[in-house]
Amino acid sequence: MTDALASSTAALPTVRLNKVGKRFPLENGELEAIRDFTLDIREGESIAILGSSGCGKSTLLRLLIGLDETFDGQILIDGQPVRGIGSERGIVFQEHRLFPWLNVAQNVDLGLVNENLPPEQRRRRVEEFIRLVELDGFQRAYPHQLSGGMAQRVAIARGLVASPRILLLDEPFAALDALTRQQMQEELQAIRARSGITSLLVTHDVEEAIFIADRVVVMAPRPGRIKRIVEIGLPHPRDRAGYDFHRLRQELLSELTGGSSNDRRQPRR
Ligand SMILES: Nc1ncnc2c1ncn2[C@@H]1O[C@H](COP(=O)(O)OP(=O)(O)OP(=O)(O)O)[C@@H](O)[C@H]1O
Ligand SMILES: [Mg+2]
Repeated sequence: MTDALASSTAALPTVRLNKVGKRFPLENGELEAIRDFTLDIREGESIAILGSSGCGKSTLLRLLIGLDETFDGQILIDGQPVRGIGSERGIVFQEHRLFPWLNVAQNVDLGLVNENLPPEQRRRRVEEFIRLVELDGFQRAYPHQLSGGMAQRVAIARGLVASPRILLLDEPFAALDALTRQQMQEELQAIRARSGITSLLVTHDVEEAIFIADRVVVMAPRPGRIKRIVEIGLPHPRDRAGYDFHRLRQELLSELTGGSSNDRRQPRR
């Protein structure tokens, strides 16, 4: 899948981040959350942003979603400056953000508000994505009747149901148990292979990044910036127990904990 998509890469990147910076005003000054973040994402590419807690991953994603329009530099989607939420971008937030007064099917259906589908097709689509995240039977359950992991799966279905071209995921699997987490990672990979969707996954899980991404962008904290970009040239499905996987895991772990790099900061511990 990756090869076919790579050969059809258009001149224009699907997403362009050019010298993106973000500062938050504080009472006694400001906090520089992101500095000089430059990255082009090709159509169909899978990017993982890997970094420790507080290094600016969610902040960066919020800028891409268009929820925050005060930043330095440029963010272009298909060559156009990002402006507000758009149906070409599907979003799965770090917390599930379901509406407590809507049931599972209604929450998933919200992902289709801008789609203008006939009701029957719309209902079928919602059903299909509820099954995809293995919540068949829970269509009429309300968020307070679900476990944290189930609620997160509803949010994933909602992010995917409109078949967006770009999928932005902020730690989507963090609340899931290890087994479900692996299954969801495999499912995401299958969806990517089927749809050629461009995806950007924020995570602090090294294994998750290697399993899913074509390129892993390692961030350094305070201010959040790119420390290194690692190409994961392994074919899918990726063997988590394989030698190359293991080698990449060691390499990325050492990047994260301050190993070989041009980062001026000392390791945190
Ligand atoms: N609205 C805000 N006002 C002030 N500071 C903020 C705001 N949002 C985030 N920050 C700061 O920006 C930095 C990056 O936060 P962010 O939420 O992007 O981190 P993260 O990499 O997503 O961390 P985690 O892995 O824990 O989710 C942190 O120091 C945080 O305190
Ligand atoms: Mg975050």
